[in-house]
Amino acid sequence: MYQRFIRQLLPKCSHNVIQAKQEIKWLVFYINNKYNNNYSSSNNNCSSSNNNYNNINYIDNNINYSDNINLNDYNNNNLSIKEIIEKKFSEKEREILNELIKERVEQSKPLQYILGTQPFCDLEIITKPPVLIPRWETEEWTYQLITKLNHLFSINNNNYKYNNDDKKYNKKYNKKYNKKYNKKYNKKYNKKYNILDICTGSGCIALSLANSLPPNTCQIYGIDISDDALSLANLNLANLNNNNNNNNHDNNDNNNSNNNKMNNQVKFSKLDILQSSIEEIKSLFNEDDGIDLIVSNPPYISPMEYNNNLDPDVKLWEDKCALMANDDGTEFHNRIAYLASNYLLRRNNNNKFHDDENQEIIIKKYQIPQLVMEIGGSHQVEKVIHYLNKYHFGWTQIWKDATGKERCIVARL
Ligand SMILES: C[S@@+](CC[C@H](N)C(=O)[O-])C[C@H]1O[C@@H](n2cnc3c(N)ncnc32)[C@H](O)[C@@H]1O
Repeated sequence: MYQRFIRQLLPKCSHNVIQAKQEIKWLVFYINNKYNNNYSSSNNNCSSSNNNYNNINYIDNNINYSDNINLNDYNNNNLSIKEIIEKKFSEKEREILNELIKERVEQSKPLQYILGTQPFCDLEIITKPPVLIPRWETEEWTYQLITKLNHLFSINNNNYKYNNDDKKYNKKYNKKYNKKYNKKYNKKYNKKYNILDICTGSGCIALSLANSLPPNTCQIYGIDISDDALSLANLNLANLNNNNNNNNHDNNDNNNSNNNKMNNQVKFSKLDILQSSIEEIKSLFNEDDGIDLIVSNPPYISPMEYNNNLDPDVKLWEDKCALMANDDGTEFHNRIAYLASNYLLRRNNNNKFHDDENQEIIIKKYQIPQLVMEIGGSHQVEKVIHYLNKYHFGWTQIWKDATGKERCIVARL
């Protein structure tokens, strides 16, 4: 039976057996989590009542959004996936697995929409069709950006260290120093660093920045045209706030309203970035000073690519408006560069968000951008650089992804 499931899945996994086995493994976890089974041997390691495994915060459409799916639970049990399916699963569960594999193969339903979540930076982002599933390429540059920004917030503070490579150390270190550091930081710099995420979708970028940057240093805004995207972004925000509450996150100094328990406050709003007037856009921010950093993963697939080259997993399930853009896929980049340069980015005080004399040195040393836009690849570089030059960005750079493909264009005025 296990072999039959693998064979069924193969066409969806580029005929890669390892990938097919991996997908089955995730589906087995999902069924276990959803139906609250317990395949444990005597030590109960595999129990879904184990807190590691089943910290359920939001129940929506009968999907449990677990805080953390722990792969080791099964390994500790010494049961292979084949054994779980063939010996421990009930007839009903095997039927469910069969149905999910059918959905995956016959309807091209992406695995992330079946499982209901996708890991992104340190978060578990809830996924729902037709809102775009967060991609690893976006996650990669978001991490890179977080690392750079943390240098900016560590100005003049020898106690505060942030090292994305060592999560365990970070948690311990941050718990110890954040409170002390924050008081010091906020006393010295009463201004927040304003970040705008244009085309926010599930909110994955905005929420990761809010979660990973030091507490109370930033105010983050996410905008999107789609009601589906905004309600998912708000669901993710509520879910993560709830997780942080449950984890006794030490955030007493946080002045956030709206029961916002992430490190930094996030606000999502509906806005059409192509059509809205400058007044409409600016009215969402309440920021007289301007925005310090604009990030965006906008739609960037050209109409021709959309019609000819798109995988059915994407085309049938993800919103066309999240994917396709005019002008060879660069329509949004042009508009965002124009708005950023002329209206949105902070202009006063020499583009600086506080007066620390080291700020400029840090920005130069770590090449911290004011604008980060994801692109589809090398074919869009020339056009996007042209827009940036046209709107007076004096410094531009290209960030490549792990496969060596041009993935982001970043810039400063
Ligand atoms: C490629 S998705 C990115 C989603 C998310 N930032 C991510 O990285 O997973 C693009 C998003 O742009 C939104 N969008 C499309 N047209 C828009 C417009 N005119 N104004 C604002 N948002 C728009 C879509 O709804 C979609 O959520």
